[in-house]
Amino acid sequence: MGNHSLILLLILSIATTISAHNITEILSDNPDYSQYNNFLSQTKLADEINSRTTITVLVLNNAAFSSITSTHPLAVVKKVLSLLILLDYFDNTKLHQITNGTTLTTTLLQTTGNAQGNIGSVNITDLKGGKVGFGSAAPGSKLDSSYTKSVKQIPYNISVLEINAPIIAPGILTAPPPSSDVNITALIEKAGCKTFASLILSNGLIKTFQSAADKGLTIFAPNDEAFKAHGVPDLSKLTNAETVSLLQYHAAAKYLPIGSLKTNKDPISSLAANGAGKFDYTVSTAGDSVTLHTGVDSSRIADTILDATPLSIYSVDSVLLPPELFATSPSPAPAPTPAGAPSPTPASAPSPADAPTPFPASPPAPAGESPDGSPADAPSTAAERSSSGKSAGVHVKASAVLTITVTALSAFVISSVFMS
Ligand SMILES: *[C@@H]1O[C@H](CO)[C@@H](O)[C@H](O)[C@H]1NC(C)=O
Ligand SMILES: *[C@@H]1O[C@H](CO)[C@@H](O)[C@H](O)[C@H]1NC(C)=O
Ligand SMILES: *[C@@H]1O[C@H](CO)[C@@H](O)[C@H](O)[C@H]1NC(C)=O
Ligand SMILES: *[C@@H]1O[C@H](CO)[C@@H](O)[C@H](O)[C@H]1NC(C)=O
Ligand SMILES: *[C@@H]1O[C@H](CO)[C@@H](O)[C@H](O)[C@H]1NC(C)=O
Repeated sequence: MGNHSLILLLILSIATTISAHNITEILSDNPDYSQYNNFLSQTKLADEINSRTTITVLVLNNAAFSSITSTHPLAVVKKVLSLLILLDYFDNTKLHQITNGTTLTTTLLQTTGNAQGNIGSVNITDLKGGKVGFGSAAPGSKLDSSYTKSVKQIPYNISVLEINAPIIAPGILTAPPPSSDVNITALIEKAGCKTFASLILSNGLIKTFQSAADKGLTIFAPNDEAFKAHGVPDLSKLTNAETVSLLQYHAAAKYLPIGSLKTNKDPISSLAANGAGKFDYTVSTAGDSVTLHTGVDSSRIADTILDATPLSIYSVDSVLLPPELFATSPSPAPAPTPAGAPSPTPASAPSPADAPTPFPASPPAPAGESPDGSPADAPSTAAERSSSGKSAGVHVKASAVLTITVTALSAFVISSVFMS
């Protein structure tokens, strides 16, 4: 591949991940919205807004918003905010041109999956005298909130409008049960990840997960199919420490809802990270599809099992293989920074020489198995996994070289964007 086409691919893949607007920046112009803005960041809803287009954000000034923030926990504030994020574009003109003067519109609360009936929708009604009223779409609700002014528009991408009071849907102020009460094993078993559930149970990792659940935790649980795929290492050949590292690699000590994964630009550090290695991965997004890249393989996020601040749980299509355990020697750790490039053989880590055979010989998997994604997905999972023995090493090295090249180039492109 010539340098030009590589750069072109790179620019294309960056274009799909850099969003056109930044709600934090838009609202930072006005100190009246500082509370609202602060809570959009705390709840990570800012990422969700930035990862979408055709969206309307109904903002409240500090005085109007304090009625919610002063008396309710973060999980409730998040629900209230979610109901103020409309998945359609309304500016001043469109508000006054609603067909028949009234409409229902879907909000971000609806997409969380636990909003029942019309709870996640908002009623917008063009009232007499130029007033526009907002209320819950649930039957019998009043239009308790009114449009006050337009704040900012980027036509058809994002509109920010001010309203004078929060929209209260029935039940929205009820706090959900705390994340530490969630039975993680039961949830992921039910979502088709029984193998992973039994592994974290038998290795005692479930205790770590449960105790981290209310401090910020994201779990990427491979589904049962993932463990049956060709090329998945034979877990019985791993040492206990390696198995634990592999399982810890499937979680991060951070709340990462899907919007945050989509807008994330930095490598995500997993629970396996310690002095012995970075144990991280990068994320790429193509439309609604989000893929994690370890440097050895990649895995698509299949489903959101739970999004309950500060705990998020996903099922993923493939077992994530950390380069620290599964790269063939000489280890091509995909290092984003040339300086101090980590030799992945620190004290307590298993050295590559001791590492288990990463790719047990197996018949090649049928081609075209991997979900097609962004250009960054080119070294696809299926291709990497279908190889065995020596050729796997070649594939791994090639993809690592590509990763380094792409990382270096993107650092260059990003710095030139920000320096200009
Ligand atoms: C959005 O803007 C804020 C404040 O200007 C900045 O801190 C943040 O990094 C920006 N986010 C993105 C995704 O660029
Ligand atoms: C507007 O009202 C008319 C008459 O009641 C109805 O037939 C039509 O479906 C309504 N349009 C919308 C978009 O609700
Ligand atoms: C919106 O609420 C008003 C007032 O309760 C009601 O008259 C109207 O029918 C509602 N609009 C829709 C589309 O349900
Ligand atoms: C609106 O969003 C699209 C897609 O992200 C982007 O290409 C376009 O430049 C944005 N428009 C403006 C005016 O920012
Ligand atoms: C969680 O659910 C599993 C069944 O999937 C059950 O065996 C276990 O006892 C439950 N744990 C708690 C603390 O309720």
